Amino acid sequence: IRTIIHGDSDAASLSVANEIASLIKQKQEQGTKAVLGLATGSTPVKVYDYLVQFHKEGRLSFKNVITFNLDEYFPMEPDSIHSYVRFMNEHLFDHIDIEPHNVHIPDGNLSMDEVRKYCDDYEEKIKNVGGIDIQVLGIGRTGHIGFNEPGSTLNSKTRLIRLDRVTRLDAASDFFGEENVPKRAITMGVGTIMNARKIILMAWGEGKSSIIQQAVEGEIKESVPATFLQHHENCDFVLDEAAASSLT
Ligand code: F6R
Repeated sequence: IRTIIHGDSDAASLSVANEIASLIKQKQEQGTKAVLGLATGSTPVKVYDYLVQFHKEGRLSFKNVITFNLDEYFPMEPDSIHSYVRFMNEHLFDHIDIEPHNVHIPDGNLSMDEVRKYCDDYEEKIKNVGGIDIQVLGIGRTGHIGFNEPGSTLNSKTRLIRLDRVTRLDAASDFFGEENVPKRAITMGVGTIMNARKIILMAWGEGKSSIIQQAVEGEIKESVPATFLQHHENCDFVLDEAAASSLT
């Protein structure tokens, strides 16, 4: 893991947006597609704002971009205000020229019988487009990446999981109460994430400093899934000073 520390989350987000834009342009010059793995939550919002800004200024097209989102609550209707489909549309997809068929977000609206095959197909789709070039991640207080909660294994793949109590508590205010937060989610696995050629994990604020310290400097273990990223050859942690403040 390489740690890159910026003065604030705005500067950090701009640097990540620039890196994503460079990849997209490089792939355009080569006449190929850029495959992005995307996260939701508060952390990547400014990155998406910058990408939208680049597009509006006429500096960046997403015609050659394919995206795969990490996760979605289960069950979840796509048009619910809480869905990650809605989040991605509002923060990114509605404002850029990406082809709708190139956008992939796990479907939270499946029947139980359909989930297993759906998850296997999600993995296949990622493989069929040649794998993920850049995977963007946030990190949860439990050390989750995607919704790979403590106990997730290094080789885990896209699947239905049970959310940790801490994660549901963190989401409670968005859902107007913990009891309204779905108990499960579909998430890419740790193994799915580890297969990306480049991983960029972002974290802002003091609240993330302790889990960042564990992820970067702690022993690699299933109880802190983000520690698995220490095994990845090309993984940057892009932090603001507060999130980096517990690193030795
Ligand atoms: C979201 C995701 C989660 C979040 C994490 C941090 O798609 O996969 O792992 O990145 O829960 O959330 P925020 O950014 O809201 O602190």
